[in-house]
Amino acid sequence: MRSEAEDRFREAYGGDPRWRSHAPGRVNLIGEHVDYMGGLVLPAAVDRFVWLAGAPGKRWELASDVKGGERYLEAVGAELGAGPQRVAATHDLPAGFGMSSSAALLVATAAGLEPELDGREAALACQRAEQNASGVMVGVMDQFASALGRRGHALLLDCSTLEYRLVPFPADVKIVVIDSGIRRELSETPYNQRRQEAEAGLPKRKRHVESEIERVREFTAALEADDRARCGQLLKESHASLRDDFEVSTPEVDAIVERAWATPGCLGARIMGAGFGGSILALVEAGSVERFAGEVGAPTVVCSTADGAFAT
Ligand code: GLA
Repeated sequence: MRSEAEDRFREAYGGDPRWRSHAPGRVNLIGEHVDYMGGLVLPAAVDRFVWLAGAPGKRWELASDVKGGERYLEAVGAELGAGPQRVAATHDLPAGFGMSSSAALLVATAAGLEPELDGREAALACQRAEQNASGVMVGVMDQFASALGRRGHALLLDCSTLEYRLVPFPADVKIVVIDSGIRRELSETPYNQRRQEAEAGLPKRKRHVESEIERVREFTAALEADDRARCGQLLKESHASLRDDFEVSTPEVDAIVERAWATPGCLGARIMGAGFGGSILALVEAGSVERFAGEVGAPTVVCSTADGAFAT
């Protein structure tokens, strides 16, 4: 993929790139719609990437089909004080799967422009860039996971202090992302509205935020104790809370989640990411993953944990 980004650079602009970088997408195991409330989240970087090759140019240019486009590059450049670049990108992060291809684009850009940057600083710069470029007041989770996730681990992040610790993730559990087929741009969803409602303390929204943060704590403990049944139960409760209290699910997503729950080998499943369509996370015993993908009745991506762009 790296050499493909370089080839694309040469085709688009002629000459050789000056820098190369890549950053992973992410899943979120649990802790949804709590990052911007200063809550706890448990994402993981996964082995699907955006690859970049770039060099200084006269204006910001991006040769790619990756989401976000030049606006995102330019917004990261503005945060880091970098001049315009010509960039080519390739990726194996399926668009619309809710695996944060835009965060990966931002973080890869930061890694290409300033590889020595502190990972936390990079995540914060990329969060501001995404907010500025999209108008969506996203939290820091996606950028943080893409920057600082580690292979073999999930990352327990306290979004109020940005302290984090790595939590081992079992090698024989597969992370399956299921596509609901419902495409949406975050800027067209009530994401900002939900955030305002949570900040204003609306009772249902508050109940979700408080209960979800508690579930992150319990899930982390269950993962550490290898209590898979408890992990599954908490995913189920998280989904119910996102559906009923935070109201970010859709009937189509609910139907897929219920089908996933009923499929052999599935430890648990829930809507993942911002919601309003998008994707579903399922944790599946490795030995059952092929059968699961065949039976769940919607497109799936099976992934493993990976290193973030700034993980050292
Ligand atoms: C999107 C945002 C994140 C987070 C999730 C919901 O992915 O980019 O910051 O708020 O939604 O948990």
